Amino acid sequence: MPYEPPEDFLNAVRELSGRVPTPFYAYDLRRIEDRVAEYARAFRGGRVFYALKANPRLRLLERLHAAGLGAETVSLGEVLRAYTAGFMPAEVVWNGPVKPPAALEEAGRSGVPTLVADSEADLERIARHLPGAAVLLRLNPDLPVDTHPHLATGRGDSQFGVLPSDWPGVFARGRELGLAMRGLHVHLGSNLNNPADFAARLAVLERLRERAGPLGVLDLGGGFGLELDPRDLAPAMFALARAYGAELWVEPGRALVAEAGVLVARVWAEKRTQRRYLLLDAGMTTFPRPLLYGARHPVRALYDAEERGVFDLAGPACESGDVLARAVELPVPCAGDAVAFLQAGAYGGAMAMNYLDHPRPGEYAWDGVRWEVWRRPEALPRLWDDEPDRPEPL
Ligand code: LLP
Repeated sequence: MPYEPPEDFLNAVRELSGRVPTPFYAYDLRRIEDRVAEYARAFRGGRVFYALKANPRLRLLERLHAAGLGAETVSLGEVLRAYTAGFMPAEVVWNGPVKPPAALEEAGRSGVPTLVADSEADLERIARHLPGAAVLLRLNPDLPVDTHPHLATGRGDSQFGVLPSDWPGVFARGRELGLAMRGLHVHLGSNLNNPADFAARLAVLERLRERAGPLGVLDLGGGFGLELDPRDLAPAMFALARAYGAELWVEPGRALVAEAGVLVARVWAEKRTQRRYLLLDAGMTTFPRPLLYGARHPVRALYDAEERGVFDLAGPACESGDVLARAVELPVPCAGDAVAFLQAGAYGGAMAMNYLDHPRPGEYAWDGVRWEVWRRPEALPRLWDDEPDRPEPL
């Protein structure tokens, strides 16, 4: 059964929508705590690194750090954000296909995290700029995972990792370069709901084991879809890590925070073309997931009405792709009524952008009693702050 936000949270959200500008993101901290506890329990004995790209708000990171999680990052900005939230370098993993020299040097000045090398060139750059760093080497398992093509990073034709045939040689090269080669990293992709993908990865790693030899760390990345129970997956992952003599690491993002969050938007008009639309003050710039991945997020009305209808929910952009949901049955709203998009706590506020001079929305968290600001709504003049208002020679 998909998770339904509790009535008291939706009531608090409804009340908040009368006090802060829409659109905004709202999070139920209790759901985050429950999910973190579930993952911590399932992976007890290993280490859980929260993929902060899913929702990088500092107040959230502080809580997850206090709960004992590490941080998975993918840019200099994310590394420094994790440090700002209180994570120590030994609690941070830095992933990604490109880590430019200047970024490696700047991160190094604040402390060297564990690096996930994505290629031989990446290994060489790490060795040059952060000599002796602790490194995992990312494997591309060459598997046709079952998710949106933009989210399938473990396919052989993706740009990520080193193919199984090349992996042992590149790993040995890392040792020659004087790096502390600690283990292996595999991230299959995101929003994986088919347990067969996890099983197929274990089979690839089982085959590689003889050539790879014993390792200190086996990092199996994130990707846990909302329909999966970590208790079903963890035992086989631990068994494989044991076979490698390694500690098991995982990097969930979405699974910890998606269900806790809603995006709240107001309906400003009903309109008929060949379809029946509700026009909202949030769209693709506030919540890009429907446009980018064809994501379908359930919608709840935060108002009542007797009459019901079936609507497409469109945003304020001048693009026909700016539709957040299609064919949704809802009570017929009045102008100013609010709706909530569910499962918006991951890759929602994190991906909001300023295209069309839309300020990024406010983000607020509810602990069951009171609201806390996680991000203030962006003020409009800030959007053109960095643009010279007179000629600026270079
Ligand atoms: N580890 C690595 C190396 C990753 O690349 C990712 C996600 C994760 C962990 C966390 O994956 P999760 O557990 O959240 O699935 N913007 C997209 C999702 C992109 C995920 C990219 N990498 C979306 O809105 O669905």
